Amino acid sequence: MAAAPRIISLIIAALCCLLPSTAAQKPDLAIAVCRNTTDFAFCREAVYSDPRAPGADRYELIDIIFRLAYRNASDTRGYIAGEVKSGADELKKCLGDYDKAVAILEGMLNDLNSESYYDLDSRSLDIQHRVSDCGKGLRIGVGIARRNQNMLKLANMCYAVSKLF
Ligand SMILES: *[C@@H]1O[C@H](CO)[C@@H](O)[C@H](O)[C@H]1NC(C)=O
Ligand SMILES: *[C@@H]1O[C@H](CO)[C@@H](O)[C@H](O)[C@H]1NC(C)=O
Repeated sequence: MAAAPRIISLIIAALCCLLPSTAAQKPDLAIAVCRNTTDFAFCREAVYSDPRAPGADRYELIDIIFRLAYRNASDTRGYIAGEVKSGADELKKCLGDYDKAVAILEGMLNDLNSESYYDLDSRSLDIQHRVSDCGKGLRIGVGIARRNQNMLKLANMCYAVSKLF
């Protein structure tokens, strides 16, 4: 009864050869979109934190990226609001920028829900401008600087994925 192990190893060998070749035929859209962003590694890591990323079509991908950006923007907005509350008046302009960024992302997520895909790229650019505006001319603390950098990259990802529509 030496046949069974041989068959199993044949099957394993066949799978080894087949899987990479089928995978090579269909590179993930997520990877193609991340190649069009300012920081490929950051983009890939962020997108693939969502289990829907492998094999995602453009509708799933834009949902993944806009949600990531929305979560990040809301989180950073909350952080800045806390700093302003404890006396960091110079961050008020930043808070205004993030209020706006969060509102734009909310609007875009609502549009996705109602299957409307207009002006997503220009609104993504608007977010990018707000976020870099926050970073400008401020002696901002390390906590905000890092968050702002992340958010800038996420806004750029929003722009790249919007270009699919
Ligand atoms: C990446 O950008 C190029 C140049 O703008 C464009 O032709 C291409 O379609 C983009 N790829 C994706 C996946 O969006
Ligand atoms: C913002 O995005 C970065 C990169 O994906 C991540 O490390 C960070 O945890 C995110 N923050 C929130 C609140 O989602």
